[in-house]
Amino acid sequence: MKPSPCFHSIIEVIGNTPMVELHRIVAERSLQGRILAKCEYMSPGFSKKDRIALEMLREARRTGDLKPGQTVVELTSGNTGTGLAICCKALGHPFVAVMSKGNTIERAHMMRALGADVVLVDQAPHSPPNQVSGEDLALVEQRTREILQERGAFRADQFNLMGNVLAHEYTGREIWEQSEGQVTVFVDFTGTGGSYCGIMRYLRQQNPSIRGYLIEPATAPALAGGDVTQQSHKIQGGGYSMCDLRLLDKSLVHAYLRVSDDEVIACARLLACEEGLFGGFSSGANLAGALQVLAGPEQGETVAMLVCDSGLKYLSTDLYQ
Ligand SMILES: Cc1ncc(COP(=O)(O)O)c(C=O)c1O
Repeated sequence: MKPSPCFHSIIEVIGNTPMVELHRIVAERSLQGRILAKCEYMSPGFSKKDRIALEMLREARRTGDLKPGQTVVELTSGNTGTGLAICCKALGHPFVAVMSKGNTIERAHMMRALGADVVLVDQAPHSPPNQVSGEDLALVEQRTREILQERGAFRADQFNLMGNVLAHEYTGREIWEQSEGQVTVFVDFTGTGGSYCGIMRYLRQQNPSIRGYLIEPATAPALAGGDVTQQSHKIQGGGYSMCDLRLLDKSLVHAYLRVSDDEVIACARLLACEEGLFGGFSSGANLAGALQVLAGPEQGETVAMLVCDSGLKYLSTDLYQ
């Protein structure tokens, strides 16, 4: 393979992540079919969110919503903020990340190292540490709005800007091309719905019969219309029990899956120990979903999933202890 050329800036390295087939995990369970894992943790900010950070900024600069040198603010669980810190620096914008203390501290340290101004918001009184509930998110939202006013800033709003979905149409294209058109199923744990929708939109254009399964926490299946028995869970980056996700096009959802914290942790460990892919909780959730469908309705199919971010971001949690 020819080595890549020297890039002008780190932002040119975003995207084009490798895809790896999970042979061992599938064979050891005697499952029929394939699981293809897209290694998003191999991006400069170690997550899939680098893609949307770049696309949201590019789009806003194109439309004039983001002026040269204007401050950018984002409510983040850490990954979008890390991507924005990298891209804002490269494009010349100061950046403020607003994050719940329920997210792991590694993310705050990393964003600060990348030049971001990080504002940490206290959790709601009864929220458990290392878990972000809908209530916690509401507090972060309130603080984000205040800072936007104070700083006259542009909001890189991943819950509302189409750049989030568009960025992942490219991810979908990569999945399609890397699988040589073999992928028939996609599973994804959802936060904003950006990666699910962007990827499914592209895949459905290529093959309208591709099935997408949206993954939610077992105790908070809000999008599936189930009972939310407990809002808090360990899968950082999503499962917020919000029913009105603006970017989520439910016509792209074939069915919904539920995964428990224990299942997610076991699957993240499996991914690392069996296949050498070191992901976070949501990567475990995606593997859990992929195994559920291969063992169930999608026997014999080719399932694609994302390894959303790096396990290094969770060393302060119980994920790998
Ligand atoms: C680690 C991780 N996994 C999954 C998600 C959910 O992705 P999306 O917002 O595209 O639905 C996020 C979102 O922040 C995340 O940071």
